[in-house]
This record gives sequence, structure tokens and C-alpha cells, in this order.
Amino acid sequence: MFPDLTRDDVFRIETRRLWLRWPCAKDADAIVQLAGDEAVAGMTAAIPHPLDRGTVDGFILGARRDAIEGRSLTMAVAARSRPQTLIGIVGIAPDADAAGPHLGYWLGTPHWGRGLATEAVGAMVEAYFAYTPGTVLTSAARIENAASRRVLAKLGFASEGTALRPFPARGGDLPTERFRLDRRVWERRGAHAAAGLVAVHV
Ligand SMILES: CC(C)(COP(=O)(O)OP(=O)(O)OC[C@H]1O[C@@H](n2cnc3c(N)ncnc32)[C@H](O)[C@@H]1OP(=O)(O)O)[C@@H](O)C(=O)NCCC(=O)NCCS
Repeated sequence: MFPDLTRDDVFRIETRRLWLRWPCAKDADAIVQLAGDEAVAGMTAAIPHPLDRGTVDGFILGARRDAIEGRSLTMAVAARSRPQTLIGIVGIAPDADAAGPHLGYWLGTPHWGRGLATEAVGAMVEAYFAYTPGTVLTSAARIENAASRRVLAKLGFASEGTALRPFPARGGDLPTERFRLDRRVWERRGAHAAAGLVAVHV
């Protein structure tokens, strides 16, 4: 799905306030701490709670392997002033049950409410449409996850209504709002300005 450009760990995305880079082994402590918070994990389908170090180590290795193979792209989010310090994750992975690949993300709670998710996720959306031939991106948020639904709406995603989706780490199916963004909608929006993307580095 992803081209050679993103398959090497020197690949980085720069936004106004953030770096998006491949996750590495040194990020494990930050992920355990930030994604281990129930306020974060509870809104996601895949992050267990409690979250242990072994699970996180496996996640980082899997993310790097899948990125090398071009199967998916998972990026650590960090402030430009502290590029080694992970504050969140944004990723795009195949989804056999949806019209197109699935976009997922989280930020640690100390970083909420400053537009950082919109900036990071917007840059990832920009990179996806700019560097892959993909025609559609999908996402989904729990009905009660107003912040996440708002992030997707701000980036031009259209609601496709509600549906039950599997949330294996939450123990079953949960009601969600499903979203999609088509390439032609993204093209019309002039997404560069919306995403705050500055450059990609390879
Ligand atoms: C969803 C999440 C990534 C948002 O991060 P963030 O950096 O705070 O998001 P932003 O600041 O870019 O945007 C949030 C928007 O939601 C709005 N919002 C936040 N809480 C809200 C609420 N309870 N009701 C309505 N709107 C809300 C904010 O006002 C903002 O919109 P605005 O710019 O129009 O004012 C973060 O809350 C998170 O990591 N949550 C846990 C994991 C998660 O939900 N991941 C997504 C799974 S689908």
C-alpha cells in the first residue's frame, strides 16, 4: 500500500508543531505510560487496559516490520522541540471490512485540547493521498468519543452513519460512527493548508 519512500526509518513528516517519525524501541516507556491511561485505551479498539511492556514492545516491532513491507504506516508523534519524546501515535493500516484503509490515532492526555491531533492526523492524511494511489481512507470513533469525531469532521471526513464494530481490547462489539474521506473530496479541500504539513524528509 505504501511506496518505497515511507519504507525506511529515516522517513519523517514535519508539521508546524510536530514531527511524525517511525516508532522505535526507546518509545516503549512513553507508550506504556500514555496509552496505558484508561482515558486513551478505552476509546480504542486494540489497546489493552492495563497495558504491559511486552505488548508495547511487540507493537513497536510489528509497526516497524509492517512499515518496511509497505503494508501499513504507523508514526510516532513528537513535538518538534522534543523529537525523541513520543506524545502519541497515528497510523494507517489495511481494513478488509471497510471501503479503504483505516486511520487510527491517539495522543497522551497532557497533550489534548491544543489541536495537535488534528495537525498530526491531517498530515498523515496528506501523506497518504500524496504518496499512495489510494482513493479512500476510512476511520471510526465510538459514539461517545466527541473529540475524535470532531477531529475527523475538521479534516473533511464524511459520516457514514453508525454501526457496531469489533473492539477486541474492550471485549466485544461497540457502537461507532464510521467515516470516510474520498480522494476527490481531499483534492477539493486543498488539504495542505488544513493539515499544517510543512514537509516530508527522506
Ligand atoms: C481524540 C484525540 C486524539 C483528540 O486529540 P486533541 O489533540 O485533543 O484533538 P484536537 O485538539 O485536534 O481536536 C479536538 C476537537 O474536539 C473538540 N472536543 C473535545 N472534546 C469534546 C467534547 N467532549 N465534545 C465536543 N467536542 C469536543 C475540541 O473542541 C476540538 O474541536 P475544535 O477545534 O473545533 O474546538 C484525543 O482525545 C485522544 O487521544 N483520545 C483517546 C484516544 C482516541 O479517542 N483515539 C481515536 C480513536 S477513534
